[in-house]
Amino acid sequence: MKKQILIVYYTQTGQLLKILEKIAGPFLADSSYEIEYLKLEMEKPFPFPWNRKEFFGIMPDSVQEKPHTLKPFETKHDQYDLIILGYQVWFLSPSVPFTSFLDSPKASSLLNNSNVLTVIGGRNMWVMAHESIKKKLQALNAKLVGNIALVDKSPNLVSVVTIIYWLFHGKTDRLLNLFPKPGIKNKDIEDGKRYGEEIKTCLESNNLPILQRNLVSKGAVALKFEIISMETKAKKVFKVWAKIINWSGIEGSLGRKVTLFLFEIYLYFVILFLSPLISILSTFAAILRRKATAKKLAYYSGV
Ligand SMILES: Cc1cc2nc3c(=O)[nH]c(=O)nc-3n(C[C@H](O)[C@H](O)[C@H](O)COP(=O)(O)O)c2cc1C
Repeated sequence: MKKQILIVYYTQTGQLLKILEKIAGPFLADSSYEIEYLKLEMEKPFPFPWNRKEFFGIMPDSVQEKPHTLKPFETKHDQYDLIILGYQVWFLSPSVPFTSFLDSPKASSLLNNSNVLTVIGGRNMWVMAHESIKKKLQALNAKLVGNIALVDKSPNLVSVVTIIYWLFHGKTDRLLNLFPKPGIKNKDIEDGKRYGEEIKTCLESNNLPILQRNLVSKGAVALKFEIISMETKAKKVFKVWAKIINWSGIEGSLGRKVTLFLFEIYLYFVILFLSPLISILSTFAAILRRKATAKKLAYYSGV
């Protein structure tokens, strides 16, 4: 019987699908595997390109991980040898479409006792979202056997500018012919094939417990200590903002418009002024506390 692999994903730009297709490449080339893609779609789709109102408006639900309604979906089988979950990060949290999937009864039956590999395609801050995904998978009794996290490797402030251009204009060219193209570099996406080969090898030799170590040694997890420091602090503050915004009024109310606007100002301030400062301080801290830094990086590289 063929080995069955299910790939669940949501993507607005197509970037995550490109990564997943690279990872699936080695399996597709082998007739002993059956690959099934499950594309998540929202009952009320999110816009792409985004506008300011909707972009900042989705922040509280993203951070508080409130599910929205997905279009009904089916899978060919009830159980798979491996389920690959491709997700992206929204406001340091799993994207709302992905939260909605994990909240569905179908996800709980599919994931129960299944081998799961997560694939993240983000700007550069994914660690806090993944902590939450790990907890949810544990609650669903899924066996997380690996995680691949690809990011835009441009400097933090550069990737902020290019992602705003991409998400708000839907364009992937070089802004002003000065900035790099937005998103994860093609070379890093291409590497997905090598990760796919590693997954296949471990799956066939019943060696899934060593999969993550091997993936990490091949560069499948992009991590920077100063970015982890920034997002750990920011996530705590985002949770407070989400509460304030929800408390300030229902969607469309003046109170909510005001607090969302204040959050937007806060975010620009953090990105432009606080993040460079935190980055410098964390780099010093990392040099002074080498052992603790290595321990933290090892923890977030694992599953
Ligand atoms: C509302 C929103 C918030 C986002 N917040 C983050 C974030 O906190 N960290 C991050 O690394 N990327 C963030 N991104 C980028 C996405 O994770 C993703 O890389 C990008 O939107 C590509 O979209 P796709 O995977 O849907 O094609 C955000 C994108 C959106 C639309």
